[in-house]
Amino acid sequence: MVSVLFVCLGNICRSPTAEGVFRHLVANEGLADRIRVDSAGMGSWHIGQPPDKRAQGAAWRRGIDLSKQRGRQTKPQDFERFDYVIAMDRANFASLKSICPKGHERRIHMFLDFAPDVPESEVPDPYYGGPGGFDVVLDMIEAASKGLLEDIRKTQL
Ligand code: 4NP
Repeated sequence: MVSVLFVCLGNICRSPTAEGVFRHLVANEGLADRIRVDSAGMGSWHIGQPPDKRAQGAAWRRGIDLSKQRGRQTKPQDFERFDYVIAMDRANFASLKSICPKGHERRIHMFLDFAPDVPESEVPDPYYGGPGGFDVVLDMIEAASKGLLEDIRKTQL
């Protein structure tokens, strides 16, 4: 079993979207029993909450249901339970490094490193913007999800 944890700040916009998109891709590729997917946030504000309505709506329009996911906070044990711990932006990356138990740092990645055709290096936080930001985020997440699955196929399966 290969395991993937997506991490953002609040766990109600970007990382739950990545969780839903990547799980959908994994299922379509027939790999649901070989790849485990989860998401978490660095902050504690949204523990137990469903994803932001705008994130749910944008994903739903692409055939992906986020409604059953619930927010949780990243914890140091996650670095033992997940092979890939994937940050949406550099702030998340730095926060993850700061709570990562020694020896597990290599599990932390920047999500858009798996999307060489996307010029940006960070998935922007859409929380304080309009609904259009969620579609931009989804485009990036779809591209990086494909690259991540290719990486897993090459190195893990
Ligand atoms: P996310 O967006 O990190 O993509 O889930 C945010 C959601 C909520 C907050 C910050 C970012 N917040 O400060 O509550």
